[in-house]
Amino acid sequence: MEYFVKTSSPEKRRTGCLILGVFDRRTPTVEGTLIDQASGGALGAVMRRGDFDGKLGQTLLLHDVPGTLAERVLLVGLGRDTSMDEASYRKAIAASARAVRATGAVDAANYLTRLNVRDRDVHWRVQQAVLVTMAEYYRFDECRGEAARADLPSYKLERLGFDVSSRAEVSAADRGLREALAIGAGQQLAKDLGNLPGNLCTPTYLAETARKLATQGSGIKAKVLEESDMKKLGMGSLLSVSRGSREPAKLIVLEYMKGRKTDRPIALVGKGLTFDAGGISIKPAAGMDEMKFDMCGGAAVIGTFKAVSQLKLPVNLVGVIAASENLPDGAANKPGDVVTSMAGITIEILNTDAEGRLILADALTYTERQYDPTVCIDMATLTGACVVALGAYPSGLFSNTPALTRALTAAGDQIGDRVWELPMWPEYDDHIKSECADIANIATKGGRDAGATIGAIFLQRFARKMKWAHLDIAGTAWVGKKSSGRPVPLLMQYLINGLSSSSKS
Ligand code: BES
Ligand code: MN
Ligand code: ZN
Repeated sequence: MEYFVKTSSPEKRRTGCLILGVFDRRTPTVEGTLIDQASGGALGAVMRRGDFDGKLGQTLLLHDVPGTLAERVLLVGLGRDTSMDEASYRKAIAASARAVRATGAVDAANYLTRLNVRDRDVHWRVQQAVLVTMAEYYRFDECRGEAARADLPSYKLERLGFDVSSRAEVSAADRGLREALAIGAGQQLAKDLGNLPGNLCTPTYLAETARKLATQGSGIKAKVLEESDMKKLGMGSLLSVSRGSREPAKLIVLEYMKGRKTDRPIALVGKGLTFDAGGISIKPAAGMDEMKFDMCGGAAVIGTFKAVSQLKLPVNLVGVIAASENLPDGAANKPGDVVTSMAGITIEILNTDAEGRLILADALTYTERQYDPTVCIDMATLTGACVVALGAYPSGLFSNTPALTRALTAAGDQIGDRVWELPMWPEYDDHIKSECADIANIATKGGRDAGATIGAIFLQRFARKMKWAHLDIAGTAWVGKKSSGRPVPLLMQYLINGLSSSSKS
């Protein structure tokens, strides 16, 4: 699909399908009025007959509307509220994307990007429209058999234009388009990796995917540390998790250094646990299949690198992905085992299912020592408790740096990939005291209280020297049985915002 931005009057637009918004019978949009007048009242007549009332997300397809150069006109309901909010705008765009693809139109002109959305500009409207449309058109069919694939619906639509009200808006709109194409591509890669089952998406597969990204003239370098390399570095915590698996662990390192030579990099660290059975502290059978998504933090790091390189952002960025499986076998971690992390901190493993923090601990230490980043952001499907606390709308955010919290929160609100801060007060530190080691990998007091915070408190021990944020994406990385590709949009908006604020200062 080709997406583009244009400004043209709807009644003069030659296209397979004009896409127009309608609030309700009494408050037409500017474009709706233009077409209504050009057609001698065709739209008004349709609504008077009761075929369409403008309810949010409702669509109606008209053919051969007189006075237009369009083969079809698709009406999209916008609801009553003429100062639209973000959620209604996204809903209308999604409805228009679905409906236009169901037609035979080869190209289409979407005028919804001209609408007013409260507190948002044309750059935002186009960025969102493209992202929402790309998400709507995403499918994952790699695991279907040949016959089923041959039966998949094929669509005619090849070119989709988003229209803006004036020439003056085109450059901001184009910037929104360019960003969204890159972010959408990165998000799709993250979704593909997430949706791929655990027998195919192994640590080795993640490493190969990273390597492939690096060979496409992308400006990305990839390096993969093997178990023997990790052993030399003393990564006893990470390696303890992969001991119970036949798939070798990988520490995947990505570098993209297109910023100023002297600037320290921003670091992204991801949990790439390609299947989490829980280990000896094994999980119940029901729903265990969803633990193929336990690598979505790592997938988001890879997806963000793809997006950054496609956009050619002038930043210094490093990515570190701890990739492993967590399975029970004779060599697996046992409750009560004590391991020594790369940082030298000893850890008593009281529950082998709290493995994400074990692999991230060493990834964080590696990141800190190797790169001394200006900022380190880790992302992990870390705790079921975070899902209980926040559900599927925001990711959990923990940080030792208030300015980073603010920047991530603002970026998330802007692009619609939100975060919500949870506390990491010093009172919680006592909760991971161990009787025999430096710390325990689960709470030793307070039972299941504040489970997401306990995970963050554990990680914090390994990020002391960095400006650091932890995103618990357990509730947001997949919804139902589908990967969301989050938080690629959040990270991208954060990086983009950082560029414009540093050039202003
Ligand atoms: N990957 C899971 C967390 C998870 C669970 C994410 C459900 C999404 C949905 C993680 O490794 C885990 O098992 N965490 C434990 C921690 C507990 C043992 C302290 C959990 O949340 O139950
Ligand atoms: Mn687990
Ligand atoms: Zn896990």
